[in-house]
Amino acid sequence: MTALTIEIEDAYQLKTYKKFPLTIERGQDVWLYASDGKRYLDLYGGHAVVVTGHCHPRVVAALRAQAEKLIFYSNTVYNDVRAQAAQRLIEVAPEGLTKVFFVNSGAEANETAIKLARKLTGKAGLISFEGGFHGRTYGALSATGISKYRDPIEPRVPHHHFAPWGDLGAVRGLMNAEVAGILLEPIQSMAGVRTAPAECYQGLRQLCDEYGAMLIYDEIQTGFGRTGEFFFTPRYDVIPDMITLAKGIASGVPMGAVLVTEAIAERVGFGDRGATFGGGPLACAALVATIEVIQEEGLLENVQAQSRYLQDQLASQDIEEVRGLGFLIGIRFNCEASVYQQRLMEHKILTGLSDDPRVLRLLPPLTLQRREIDYFLEALSKIEREIA
Ligand SMILES: Cc1ncc(COP(=O)(O)O)c(C=O)c1O
Repeated sequence: MTALTIEIEDAYQLKTYKKFPLTIERGQDVWLYASDGKRYLDLYGGHAVVVTGHCHPRVVAALRAQAEKLIFYSNTVYNDVRAQAAQRLIEVAPEGLTKVFFVNSGAEANETAIKLARKLTGKAGLISFEGGFHGRTYGALSATGISKYRDPIEPRVPHHHFAPWGDLGAVRGLMNAEVAGILLEPIQSMAGVRTAPAECYQGLRQLCDEYGAMLIYDEIQTGFGRTGEFFFTPRYDVIPDMITLAKGIASGVPMGAVLVTEAIAERVGFGDRGATFGGGPLACAALVATIEVIQEEGLLENVQAQSRYLQDQLASQDIEEVRGLGFLIGIRFNCEASVYQQRLMEHKILTGLSDDPRVLRLLPPLTLQRREIDYFLEALSKIEREIA
């Protein structure tokens, strides 16, 4: 079955993804079940998407109930579950972010934020950072600071400029009256889980205020509990003008969102933006269930406690550096991380790589427990001994 599935997928799909030689049929919490009958510990979370664990019963029940009532209708009518989703999301949003626009993916959320910044400031410039990843649509990719993804679409959207990550002086040098916004991942995940000093976030806020530009946080990976808080914002007391969200906000049902301040919301009018599937009832039902699970099952507290344990344990191993916050963790080895990824696969553990060849990324479900962390640590120790 595994071989046949692989053969069929490869025969009929563009070969754009490098895949594990695995056919996953089923998931439950932090475990994936493959067609060969084996189970795998999912420390990759389908690329940071599986926030509440695979097939959380409350998410499944919410989807089932909604599918029986109404699968889809567009934004031309009001809908009870969309109303609930918007209200619940704004209730958990950082103070000052008071309205939401629903889309379907991360790239689309960033596209929306860039376009709003341009339209509302009347300026064209955008500053983002080397190493930042913002999605594969034209605008989002033009703002992505990883050249191997960006170069093939040249010429990019004009007026997009890049600063080295965390270099406030460089941003100041690029800043002028034509800049509509500054876009950043508060923790650069794809680049190898890189944070910046507190002064950088604060300085970017000040520069935006000084020049009448909008600060946009791409919290597509850092949002919804991954850092151990609901959002990275308001860390260091910095509140951006817009926050983009996607990945696990609906526990794996495609959904993205843009949170904006009241000042922005007041200036957005009919027809400024639209998305057929944005705020669809199924995704909204999953979003509400996701927020409830995070809150009622203490997932933020779980991430904080388990991340502390994991990071403490990793610190005592022969590892170059452990980076990140909560369950957005980068482990930097003194050799190729792909060697560890491959060996961990042999121990039935899925992990992610990054754009830094030495950094292995862990983006597990927020439900991950200590016994599973111990299982991973044991495997890692064994691999280290074998490699040594
Ligand atoms: C930080 C960040 N922004 C944007 C995106 C793009 O999201 P999507 O693939 O849903 O378009 C990603 C995807 O990996 C991401 O990690």
